[in-house]
Formats: sequence, structure tokens, C-alpha cells
Amino acid sequence: MQSVARGSAIVLLLVAVSWAVSCGSGSPAATDTAHADAAVADTADLPAPSEVEGADTGHNADGAAELPPAEAFLFVKAPWLLNVGEDHVTVAWESDVQLATPSVVITTDAGPRLVTGTSGPLDLSHGPAVGKPPVTFQNRVQLTGLTAGSTVSYVVRNASGDAPGSFRTAPQKTGSAHLVVYGDTRIDEDAHRRVVEAFSAEAPDLLVHTGDLVHVPTEAALQVFFDVLSLVSADVPIVATIGNHETDLFRAWFLGFLEPPEGFEDGTNTAFAYGPAYFVVVNSLRDPSRPGFVDWFKGELTKAEGWPYRFVMFHSPIHTFSNHAPWEKGGEVIEPLLSEYGVTAVLAGHNHCYERFEVAGIPQLTLGGGGAPLYDVESNLVPGEEQFLKADGKFYHYLVLDLTPEAATARVMVVTPDTVEPFDAFTRPPAP
Ligand SMILES: [Fe+2]
Repeated sequence: MQSVARGSAIVLLLVAVSWAVSCGSGSPAATDTAHADAAVADTADLPAPSEVEGADTGHNADGAAELPPAEAFLFVKAPWLLNVGEDHVTVAWESDVQLATPSVVITTDAGPRLVTGTSGPLDLSHGPAVGKPPVTFQNRVQLTGLTAGSTVSYVVRNASGDAPGSFRTAPQKTGSAHLVVYGDTRIDEDAHRRVVEAFSAEAPDLLVHTGDLVHVPTEAALQVFFDVLSLVSADVPIVATIGNHETDLFRAWFLGFLEPPEGFEDGTNTAFAYGPAYFVVVNSLRDPSRPGFVDWFKGELTKAEGWPYRFVMFHSPIHTFSNHAPWEKGGEVIEPLLSEYGVTAVLAGHNHCYERFEVAGIPQLTLGGGGAPLYDVESNLVPGEEQFLKADGKFYHYLVLDLTPEAATARVMVVTPDTVEPFDAFTRPPAP
């Protein structure tokens, strides 16, 4: 029965795309945007052909005659979303076999559109990887020509069971954004899952990770990370900072799976715009006083001046009273520039607790409560810095960041096995 239904679904999909439907009102099966859960949906739920408005001129949509049937494969890693912008995103997934034509059907206000991409082994060219390369295949489909701040529903086509998702493109600089930030998700899979389940209810536009995704930098550990993240990964694009547990020496897995844009040296020092915010991401495993870094960092902060909110993100906090010592080099080289360039806040992790320091009016956050074993707070006081500490706590948590033209509002949510409760909150004005 199931195979018959799938066969019918494939036929319907081909018909739907070949007729280049402009439906506007139809939407695919991905209606549960907060919990895609790598769910398998039947293509029979795709929009039915209702109106014909000529050929779809979208990417790779050349009509049914050139469309391959959906291929059958297993999702080794459920779909996740990379490099989101106002008009684009990359849909990624890992399959057990190499696909001839990985394909996605998206539904926007303009109707459904078929987009195809590439399939191949993981790119591990950014240095050595720990463990054997996987005998699996990375699939990437870039969706372009989208509208800023719009909701896009899509289906990753798979004859063994499609996977639906739905995400929001980046808003315009003048728009609003709803983000979740967390970090240090390594080791405790159950704790990480509870945190992800909790923030999935927020239906964030973007997920920001402050590093230490995994305990050891192997593909197997990343598999666990992606399995947990599959609760939201088809619906929420992710960006991440490299942590010491990814390790700088063995960063190939991190860069291979997350594909941050190239920056200074490599994608572990990078920058990107998202709606009203500009993020500068720094690899805190490297000495910021090395040649070239400050020039690059200042250059990105100068670009950031074109945005109302500017975030600097790195794994090791400059100010902390918890287990790991403060990142002194960051304090010497990076901190003086934060005020000079009107940075909104600093996002860090590394210590598995929550801390908010405020230095020269700029919040500097430790957001290390994503799933790693929790650390005590105020266990390593730094003389003279007590005045900067505004809030702290030993708990699993995530940060919700709402950016509007009026203000950036941050609230910390504490996650226990039974509750999700607000803890700390603060606001920051947009840059003048
Ligand atoms: Fe760390």
C-alpha cells in the first residue's frame, strides 16, 4: 500500500511541476514549522495543479520532460539549512548513496518550483579530519530568487519518503528578526535535546551556536549533534562558531558540515549580515594579535556600522568567573574595539553556565548551557571585575534575541526536565 501511495505521489509531483503551477494558496505538507523532526511526508500533499501560468523560469525548472524521478535513499542526516540571506538559502542533507540529481520543491507565493543541486563526498579539504571519512554523501541545493523576510516551504524529494521543511528568509535591514543563541551542546544528548525542544517552541528565524557543538571533532559525534538538531534543522538555518572541542587543528568536520562563508584565513573567522544585524565571528583558538587579524576585524566592524545591531561572537569569553579562565588575549586586542565600533553585544560560551558581564555598557554573554556538563558560577573570581557581573546561573539555557527597529531585546530561558522559565533579560538600543 505504501509503495503504491508513493508512486502516485511521484506522479503527482511531476505533474504539478510540469504544469508550472502558480497556486499561491497551496502549501506542501510542511505545516508544522516548529517540529519538522526530519519527518517524512508524502508528496501526495504537494499542491495540486490548479492554474497554469506558463513555464516556470526558476532555477532548473525546465519542465517535466527533463525532470528525473525522485531517487530513493536514506537520510543519514536530516535536512539542515545553511547560508541564509534575504533571497537565498542552502538546503543540505546527507544520504546513504550518491544522488544523480538531489532535488527540492519549494513553494512560495509564486507557486511551486523544482530546484536541483549537487551530491558528493564531504569536502574535508580544510585540514585533517579525526576518524574515517563517512561513506555517505552530502547533498546541497541552493535556493535563490527568494523574497526577503518571507516564509518558504519546501520538500526534499526522496522516493523512500520526502522530508518537508519551512523557513524564513533573512529580513531586510530595516526589518525585525527573532533569533535563538546557545552553545556548548556536547556530550549530554538528552540535555541538548531538552534545550532544542524548548526553543523549538520559539520558532526562531535563525539559530546561532557559540561553539563546542561536539565533545570530539569526529563525524560520529556530529551525527549525534545533527540527530538532536533535526527537531528544528529543516526549519531554522544555523550558523556556528568553532569551539575548542571542534579544535582548530581538526576543523575539517566543522567547516565541511556548516560551510560558513570564507573570511580571514578560513571560515572560522567570518562575518555575515542577517536582517538588522551584522555578525563578526572570531576563532578564539587563535591569537588575535597575529598578523592581519586586527585589520580584518576592524574592516568587518567598519562594515557592521551599516547595520543597527552589531554582534561579535567567539567561543571563549573575555569575562568569566567560571571554570575556564578568561580569554585574556581577546581582552587585550578585541575588547578595546567593541566600544569604538558600537558593538551591541558579545556572544560567547565555553564555560557551561550563563553569565552576563557588562563592560563599557556592552553586554558580554557566556551562553554555555546547551547540553555540556554544567559548571559552577563565581568559582574563579577575577579581582576588580565583580562590578561588571550583572547576572549568572548554573543551568541549561538558551537566549532569545528579538531585533526590531526600536530595540534589541534579549531574554534568557532556563531549561529543566520539567520547566522552561525566563531568567535574565536586557535591551539594547539600535546604533544611532
Ligand atoms: Fe569550550
